[in-house]
Amino acid sequence: MTASILVVDDQPSMQDALNTSLQSEGYRVATACSGEEALTRIEAQEFDIVLTDLVMPGLNGLDLLERSRVLDPGVAVIVMTGYATLETAVAALRRGACDYLEKPFSLDELTRCVRRLLQYHEVLGKERLLRRALHPPRVAHTLVGESIAIQAVREKIARCARTPSGVLISGESGVGKELAARAIHAASWRADREFIALNCGAIPETLLESQLFGHVRGAFTTAVQTNPGLFVAASRGTLFLDEIGELPLPLQVKLLRVIEEKHVWPVGGTKPSPVDVRIVASTNRDLAAEVAGGRFREDLFYRLNVVHLTLPPLRERRSDIPLLVDHLVERLNARLGTRFLGVEREALGALTSQPWKGNVRELQNVLERAMVLGGGDLISLRHLAADLLPPDQTRPHDLREAVRRFERQHLMDVLAETCSDKRKAARLLGISLASLYRKLGVE
Ligand SMILES: Nc1ncnc2c1ncn2[C@@H]1O[C@H](COP(=O)(O)OP(=O)(O)OP(=O)(O)O)[C@@H](O)[C@H]1O
Ligand SMILES: [Mg+2]
Repeated sequence: MTASILVVDDQPSMQDALNTSLQSEGYRVATACSGEEALTRIEAQEFDIVLTDLVMPGLNGLDLLERSRVLDPGVAVIVMTGYATLETAVAALRRGACDYLEKPFSLDELTRCVRRLLQYHEVLGKERLLRRALHPPRVAHTLVGESIAIQAVREKIARCARTPSGVLISGESGVGKELAARAIHAASWRADREFIALNCGAIPETLLESQLFGHVRGAFTTAVQTNPGLFVAASRGTLFLDEIGELPLPLQVKLLRVIEEKHVWPVGGTKPSPVDVRIVASTNRDLAAEVAGGRFREDLFYRLNVVHLTLPPLRERRSDIPLLVDHLVERLNARLGTRFLGVEREALGALTSQPWKGNVRELQNVLERAMVLGGGDLISLRHLAADLLPPDQTRPHDLREAVRRFERQHLMDVLAETCSDKRKAARLLGISLASLYRKLGVE
């Protein structure tokens, strides 16, 4: 298994040089140009080593060191320092760095340092792999929540992770589709290989083809170098095709061919290469409707949709909000360097009753803004207020209207928790099936 290294430096030339030399040693390398970007990456993916510059604008190397160890206690950090005073090196080691490199250093010194660390960590690394095999993946990859709906999602993830089948994840924006895809990868035997995400809607068609399938040198005017493409890069790992509904029809044909034949043809190439990649796709559209409308190929749809995972909107699992708030506050504390313990009671009440059209991502953004603005131990309603709908819009004064809304919401919640099993919902609600139908019809 090759070690994965995250290189953090605000100077692109330094980033490039380190990236090239470490890659030539056979390591898997990712780069970040700031401490903030590095934390986002560490949150999403497990690295063996983080190699970071100390002095960077924004979050500096020492802070990154501390926070990355909160996010992933198993990660080994090497700091690079241009001002190799003994104090900075000692400060870094005290805060948990495994080693430091004094700038300027040679390629040789760099690889020796990395190799030494990996050897030293081999024992620990083995332990870490074992831990990973025995326990569910670390918190960053688990979907938080105890509502019946989210428990069902977690169970389905655990079941389908062990199979090679394609998974289609659908759900509204910000509901956790990418997180679910990462959870599937992390719980599968492919966990120690790459998880590569590609947003099919964000890249022009011509580029998308060569990104996905690769190209040979000279295939088109700008193809100065051969690019193996994401299928090859994700070899024995997982390829997450985000917003699959945006994939243009001609590429749908090519994708289907790759999936069926398990070979990929690079653009301009004559030889196919074998691929072993698990595909997880996501959509916030109704893909079946796209198929019906002729905008998405039916045969590809069935290939991708072997297992279908639907993530319910946050407003249909409001009981998860307090747990999510705790989880997000803790994560944001690590990212922002704050020390909030949670939110005030009335603030939690307000958070629980919002419509959350942007789902968990919106909740996270609202918390982040309040944490940036506020101080003290708890996040207060005052700091959240600007982002929340005024109470008279979420909670009417008229008693009958309030009861009616509560009842409707409660029915929806229970139905969501029973996966729309009306018989079971009626039983849980303590009413007859007929009156449930009546209430649903009336509403
Ligand atoms: N159940 C959950 N537990 C913990 N964090 C969550 C959960 N659901 C979502 N998140 C967090 O909310 C944010 C949005 O999730 P994610 O990116 O997976 O959503 P998405 O469905 O892919 O959104 P989009 O459709 O906009 O791409 C992420 O930071 C993710 O970690
Ligand atoms: Mg997404």
